[in-house]
Amino acid sequence: MTEVQDPATTEALDEAPKGNGVASNGNEIQGKHIIVVHGYLLSGTGSNIYSCNLAHQWKKQGHSITIFCQDPRAKTYEWVDEFVGPKDPLPKERVARGKARVIVPDIDGLLPVYVYDDYEGYTVKTIPNCTDEEIERHIELTSKAIREAVDLWGCDKVLANHALLSPVNVKRALEGTDVPFDIKIHGSGILFVLAPHPVYKKYAIEAIEKCNKIIAGTNHIVRQVKETFEAESEELKLDDKLVIVPPGLDPDVFTPCRNIFKNINKFLDTIRKHIAKENDGRDAKKINFPKVGYKSTNIHTQLVNIGKTYNQRVCDSDLPDKFPNITKEEPIIMYFGKFLNTKGVAEILLCFPEILKKFPTARLVFIGFGGFREHLQAMIHALGTGNLELFRAAAQSPDENGKTFLQSTIDVKKHFPYRLDAQELSRITVTGCLNHTELGLILPLADIVVVSSKANEAFGMVAVEAMAAGVLPLCVYHSGLVDVLDEVKKADPELESKMHLETNPGGDFEAADGEHFTEIFPEKVNEALEFLYPEALGGMNNDKNSNKIKKRLRKLAEERWAWDGICKSLANL
Ligand SMILES: *[C@@H]1O[C@H](CO)[C@@H](O)[C@H](O)[C@H]1NC(C)=O
Ligand SMILES: *[C@@H]1O[C@H](CO)[C@@H](O)[C@H](O)[C@H]1NC(C)=O
Ligand SMILES: *[C@@H]1O[C@H](CO)[C@@H](O)[C@H](O)[C@H]1NC(C)=O
Repeated sequence: MTEVQDPATTEALDEAPKGNGVASNGNEIQGKHIIVVHGYLLSGTGSNIYSCNLAHQWKKQGHSITIFCQDPRAKTYEWVDEFVGPKDPLPKERVARGKARVIVPDIDGLLPVYVYDDYEGYTVKTIPNCTDEEIERHIELTSKAIREAVDLWGCDKVLANHALLSPVNVKRALEGTDVPFDIKIHGSGILFVLAPHPVYKKYAIEAIEKCNKIIAGTNHIVRQVKETFEAESEELKLDDKLVIVPPGLDPDVFTPCRNIFKNINKFLDTIRKHIAKENDGRDAKKINFPKVGYKSTNIHTQLVNIGKTYNQRVCDSDLPDKFPNITKEEPIIMYFGKFLNTKGVAEILLCFPEILKKFPTARLVFIGFGGFREHLQAMIHALGTGNLELFRAAAQSPDENGKTFLQSTIDVKKHFPYRLDAQELSRITVTGCLNHTELGLILPLADIVVVSSKANEAFGMVAVEAMAAGVLPLCVYHSGLVDVLDEVKKADPELESKMHLETNPGGDFEAADGEHFTEIFPEKVNEALEFLYPEALGGMNNDKNSNKIKKRLRKLAEERWAWDGICKSLANL
């Protein structure tokens, strides 16, 4: 297994350009024609956004990019320079350097997916629900379209997304050519199709046998691939082919803050504009929490339903009024991400009263959305009214699968203060969902970002984004999060030791124990704040010290995870 994280190393290999590539200048290879094959859309989340970022960055690096996908709206995206629809003839010329051309091949209207979802204009079937003929037809149509483009324009490299079916589409398209192709594994194809339905492994194997490299974002994905193809590991040369290239970060969106008041004013301006356009976000005045009787009742469904009474995908419409007047000496602890029961959000809140005792000026800011938003709100409300029963019911009412927001083994009473007074309560803020512009302004105000996931994560993007903004992430050590901490440890063991939240002692490396988290978290916050501000808060030289640490964090994130370097690695595999 080779690890490719340092673009400088791969460039130094000075690999000769293949196919119709433009000759390399010095060590850097420029102006390749790269084809990306992604069977789905180019907007939303996960691998869709990954594909956009690759295209965007490779354009900047001077490559010619052709993307095959099934997104008819791609022609409206700002970074897409040319669009070729299913019935359009292919242009004679290859797309120019620094430009992206999207091609939607004609697949006869049937889209094979991993998990059922509606796609406008398509009949959608999960792969296990397709007949063998339907799958073969899909491969035939897609691979023919790719081959036509390769024959017409030449190609230096193809990247196929997911284990199914793009790799087999590409493999058959490239038969008899010497164009190399890599496969990027995102995890969902394996998780939702290959693991439960191993009969479809034959399509993945057919492609892996012929591919150049298999790209995994983390060691966690490497393990998943090795487990899935354990029996075929040797003949597929998995150990030679698997490389780790982490997903990337936009260092221009997440940057350290020079002047907190400028950031806050800009932030408030932006959200006011946003609310003027979309004013259906949460408004505390309109929310009534369920009444909880003497015997605690299950209020899970009621809370979920309250969360559906407003638009969760925008910032709260009362945010400009409730956003706190932050001063410079207040340590800010931040969580951003989904409000789900697997994320450890309730555990963070549970620890806050104890943190406040030690740091009375501390603030806690939650940014995000999700099915457990109102569980979080009800818990905060209950802290202010001293209502232990409501707090417990919101925290530990089981959902339909028996899962609770706060881990059910935790003794809530042990942590519950009599109540928080109004001043203390005002130190907790929930913003709702923020877009990247808004998050980029407010994230660098934090001193600490908490990554508290209890279930496994593909990668620690939140930790990396925090670092880019000069913020110290405190991060549990399991699954895809391990890679971020291990990488930091190599470069700066002291930083890593501050960031590292051990998971359950002796536990597995796929998940963390919420109860253990609540036992160690307040002390780690303590340690982190003393590290950032050794002179006690308000000390004269604290800024100098914390600015140095912010620079260390920023530098590490930029060097290791900026898209620019990541994409150079990928182009030169
Ligand atoms: C196949 O489709 C049916 C409905 O048409 C659905 O109930 C079933 O869950 C699907 N199976 C898979 C494996 O997707
Ligand atoms: C976020 O919302 C603001 C206000 O509507 C807008 O100006 C900005 O462009 C948005 N940013 C992103 C990344 O969508
Ligand atoms: C912030 O300060 C202003 C002016 O003193 C005040 O009107 C506002 O209510 C304060 N905001 C909060 C959330 O305390």
